Amino acid sequence: MNKVKVISSGKALSADIEGIDLSKALDPATRATILEAWSEHLVLRFRGQKLSDPDLERFSAMLGPLDKAPTYSKGVRTDVGSDFVTVISNVVENGVAIGDLGNAEALWHTDMSYNEIPPMASALYSLEIPPVGGDTGFCNMYQAWETLPQDLRQRVSGRLCVHDSSTNSVGGLRGGYEAVTDVSKTPGARHPMVITHPVTKRECLFLGRRRNAYIVGLPVNESEELLDAVWAHTTKKELSWYQEWQVGDLILWDNRCVMHRREDFDSNSRRIMHRTQIAGSKPYGRVSATTA
Ligand code: OGA
Ligand code: MN
Repeated sequence: MNKVKVISSGKALSADIEGIDLSKALDPATRATILEAWSEHLVLRFRGQKLSDPDLERFSAMLGPLDKAPTYSKGVRTDVGSDFVTVISNVVENGVAIGDLGNAEALWHTDMSYNEIPPMASALYSLEIPPVGGDTGFCNMYQAWETLPQDLRQRVSGRLCVHDSSTNSVGGLRGGYEAVTDVSKTPGARHPMVITHPVTKRECLFLGRRRNAYIVGLPVNESEELLDAVWAHTTKKELSWYQEWQVGDLILWDNRCVMHRREDFDSNSRRIMHRTQIAGSKPYGRVSATTA
């Protein structure tokens, strides 16, 4: 019998899934329950897990093939996770960081959307957490689109936006890049600002990240003004839910219709997370000929 419980957060997105040990193989009924809950709630939390990296990879691979870990910032050890496990941590051992993103605030973003084919999902598992701070927020991009004022809907519809590949979510320059000085030349993939989710077929906003973003074909000042207005709407509190971490939490989010951010925490505390990213498909949506 399937004893899995799905408990909604009651907020704009996310649900707890209870009654599953993710270190064990999942039967088809359990898998189906997870996928259905994921389509409905966009972010799923599994508490009290005890996962090795191979467990994390096996569970994530239930959704599809994994993407390799992204390029780490300069000076981060690259031999801690596997090729498919990204270490997110502020811990420094023998003068070398064991993971990326440090302890600073990470601004709202979609993982690796600067790639032509961004991951469809990320799974983030907590091994060590600070006593305070470091909460992770998630926002519902379907609702961001559905509630966007009509004039802004018209202005972004059919537009492409550039997703900056030169910096990470805490503002660090990635290896091999130079700082962007003119956003109309920002490196990174161009994606439609409104995409259709390939599974649910619902439309959602797809913004990626604000830093160095640019709406293709607009004068820079107009692009800045429009992006500011759309971002101000998207990051409203009522569209979000915040995860307060416990050790052993596994959070699975849909990277196509959810953005996330992380609050900062004390640099003297330790925080260690292991993340997988599940390969996606090329984002698609309506694109007007004039902007392509
Ligand atoms: C990530 C990320 C947030 C966090 O792993 O993609 O943005 O809470 N991390 O560490
Ligand atoms: Mn991220």
